[in-house]
Parts: sequence; C-alpha cells; structure tokens
Amino acid sequence: MEDLQISACRIGQVPLSPEPCCIVLFGASGDLTRRKLVPALFHLFLSGQLPEPCQIFGVARRPYTDESWRQGLLEAVQRYGRKPLPTAESWARFASRLFYCQGDLSDPTTYGRLADYLTRTKPAELRHRVLYYLATKPSQFAEVVEHLHRAGLLRPNPEPGWQRVVVEKPFGHDLASAQALNRNLTQFVSEQQLFRIDHYLGKETVQNILMFRFSNAVFERLWNRDAIDHIQLTVSETAGVGDRAGYYEEAGALRDMLQNHLLQVLALVTMEPPVSLDAEAIRDEKVKLLRCIRRYTPDQAGQHVVRGQYTAGEMDGQPVPGYRHEPRVRPDSQVETYVAARLYLDNWRWSGVPVYLRTGKRLARTVSEVRIQFRSSPHVLFAAQCNPTPAANAVTLRLQPREGISLRFNGKVPGLDLRVRPVRMHFDYNAEFGAYTPEAYERLLRDVMIGDPTLFLRGDEIETAWAIADCLRAGWQDRPLSEAELYPAGSWGPPASESLIQLTGHRWHEPLLLT
Ligand code: BG6
Repeated sequence: MEDLQISACRIGQVPLSPEPCCIVLFGASGDLTRRKLVPALFHLFLSGQLPEPCQIFGVARRPYTDESWRQGLLEAVQRYGRKPLPTAESWARFASRLFYCQGDLSDPTTYGRLADYLTRTKPAELRHRVLYYLATKPSQFAEVVEHLHRAGLLRPNPEPGWQRVVVEKPFGHDLASAQALNRNLTQFVSEQQLFRIDHYLGKETVQNILMFRFSNAVFERLWNRDAIDHIQLTVSETAGVGDRAGYYEEAGALRDMLQNHLLQVLALVTMEPPVSLDAEAIRDEKVKLLRCIRRYTPDQAGQHVVRGQYTAGEMDGQPVPGYRHEPRVRPDSQVETYVAARLYLDNWRWSGVPVYLRTGKRLARTVSEVRIQFRSSPHVLFAAQCNPTPAANAVTLRLQPREGISLRFNGKVPGLDLRVRPVRMHFDYNAEFGAYTPEAYERLLRDVMIGDPTLFLRGDEIETAWAIADCLRAGWQDRPLSEAELYPAGSWGPPASESLIQLTGHRWHEPLLLT
C-alpha cells in the first residue's frame, strides 16, 4: 500500500538529516550508555543516520582508555543491541568515532579536559554543534550543566551552530523538585536547548496514536463522551525491580511510570487536534489535556487511586521473591510496585468518562496497551442471542509487544441458528511493514541531532505531570500498605485494584494475547 507523505515526512518541520556534530555522553560507564545509548548510536550509524563526520565522547570516573571503553561497548552492543549485530568491519568503523575522557563530574578540571578534546576535534565545524547527554544520576544534572557553562562549553544562544542538552528521567521527584531543576538548568541553557526524555514517546506505536486519531475520520468522530464508555491503559511488566532498588526505593511505580509514560500516552490518546504539526502546537495540546485532569483532594485520591506491592509468587513456573526480599530493598519497605488510578478529564470532550490507568512490576505479562471501550449499542434487537446485550465495541492500541491495533465488533456465528458473538480485526505492524522498528532511543537521539523537540517534554508539561502525580500520591501518604494492597508475583495486581474499577461498574480487561 502506498505511504502517505505527511508534511516533511514526519511530525515537525525540521531538517531531515543530522548535520556533523559531537556527542558527549556523561555517565559513559553506566547502564543506560551500555544498554540503550551506544546500541542506538550504532544502529543509527549502520542505517546511515549518524552524521558524517561525528565524534562521540564518553565522560565518566572509571579509568578506561579509548580502547578498553570501546571493547566494553562492543560487548554491550552484542548483548543488548537489536539485529544486525556488529561485524568486525562495521564495529571498527563505528568505534573509530568513540573517545573516552576520564573525570569526576563534580571536578571542574574534568570539563577543562573535555574542552581540550573538543577543541582538538577536526573538522572545526564539529565543535559548533554539540549534543550533551546527561545519563548520570539525577542529582548531577544541574551540576554538570553549570560546570559546562563555566568551562565555556555551553551557552544559551551559541553562534554559530547549536549546543543541546538531553536530560534523562527522573526529572525531579515531585513538583517542587522539578520546578527547582527547571530553574537551575534554565540559568545556563534556554528552554529550546533542553530535551527532556520520556522514551515512551520514541516508540513507533506511541507516535502512531496521533496518526491514527487525526488521519482517520471514522474514529475521531467517535472519540468523545457520546460514544466512549471508558478508557483503560495498562503498562504491565513481568520483571521485578532487578538491581535498581537504590533508585526504585525512592521512586515507586507512580513516579517511575505513571507520572511520565502513562500520562504521556494518555495525553496523546485524549488531547484535542493540534493546529499544526509544529512541536509547540502538539506540546500545547498535551499540556492543555494534562491540565484538565481532575485534581483530587487527599481524601478523593484515597478513593480513586490504589497502590500495591508484590509478594513472593511464580513467574514462568519459577518461584520469585517478594519485593521486600529483593536485593537492597528495605525489609519493611512501603514502596509501591503497582499503581492504578481512575482519572477524570474535566473538559467538553471527556466529561464523565472514567479513564483507568494501571502499571506494575511482576505482573502476569509484559504488555502495554490502551483500550478504548465504546458504549453498548442501545437497541436490544439481539438481546436473546447475546445474553443479554451485544458486547460493546472496542479499539485496542497495542503499544508493545505485537505492536498493532485491534477492533472488536459483533458478528454472526455461521450456522442455522442465529447467534452473535464478538470478533476481532487485527492490524499488525510486523505483518504490514516488516520487522523493522527503530528502538525508541534511535528516534530520540536523531531528533535531538536534527533539533526536533516534538517528542520531548517541555518544562511546563513536566511540571503539570508532577502536580498530578503529587496529588495522586497524597491518597496514601504515610499510610502503611494493607493486605488488600499486596499481590503475588505473576498475578494481575492487588485485590484493591479490582474493587477500584468495580466501584464504577467496570472490570479490567485482560490485555489481548495474540499468538
Ligand atoms: C523505565 C522505568 O522508564 O521504563 C522502568 O524506569 C521500566 O522501571 C521501563 O521497566 C519500561 O520501559 P519499556 O520500554 O521496557 O516498556
């Protein structure tokens, strides 16, 4: 089928291929660099999307040489990268762009050394375009940016060229800390230079939400309170906390997932059409939508939000420990590994439509999907055949895995009897477009290089999301977890989340299982 070319072939009006630049990775010996960033850069290189020339500098404390850093990254790309894996030849060409600069991020001399590296870079035009990636501890974000500024490596309006700063999550841990971080960073860089990451926005299926909604009249006309009964958004993971307890004990599921990934997906599913595909137009609509989310008082949050924590259970037939027995977790930890919420969007389009969000670790399956549940048909013509009403239609946006979209409707069961039952139509990305799906970080890194901020969070957007998260958290502040909030690993969450949804006459739909 023919592709529809939308404006400049993608969202936003920006150059299509990155110009030669330098990339500086702070936190170069860390997990994110190894698992995501360098594999993504390698695949950009393989697909000809890394600018030519381009130099990549890693900055971290460990005493690597260029050679030993490259060797460690080769192993990481072999282990975590998607296919095709590096060959000796492709890796050698890519690795010749990698350089290591050892240094402590709190020490000003590190930035002096980095400046020496950058000034020696040839050709000179490379130094005029620099992407700084902060894959560091969040407590170091402001410090690194300030040091860069003091070393003359980062200015609000560099001429010629550009300097951009990518900030990983978590961006703060509540509204006050996010505001403080925004203030600290914007002393040294402008909002236009700041690219706040939410890697969910880099996923093809998440980007497709806007295409699906705003290029198909048939759905958008029904995308409102008249036709839609409720919305369910599930982001579940089978993995436990793994070796990230240090971070997770401070974060929990609400801060780790709901405040960012789930609210972003929700905004794309429910926002108004933007006036253009311009980054600011899209981000304006997302912020407007987030502002419509009803702010609960602590008492109301207690009724509309449920948390949970996994206890010992079974995954794939193997016993797994409960959260409190995971390495480095406090034995009496009250941190939530699951959160579910019933939200209301107080605007004309969605008034009165409940939106249920849930996310958690050690759940029955790893799946992310949005289910748009339409109202039941009003007519009881088939009541006798459907016992008692025909099932309501549903559109399911399958974000991952088995990426695609499914539509549920009713059909006649073949045969002499008159029987009606729900059937499904599935659109499958892999079947339609082949297995090529760039990793989220490939898309996002390339967007920073071409200067397209559409898939990154604006300062006001992240603050609004934190204000929502803070008010949802207030529902359980300082209250210890109860029995109804514990769930065995491998289940679909705590009993309290069933009560939450039943209270408004609904039930959780188990995510689609496609074979
Ligand atoms: C991260 C969270 O942002 O997203 C992790 O910190 C979570 O806890 C991960 O596992 C999930 O991302 P994905 O892309 O695997 O769905």
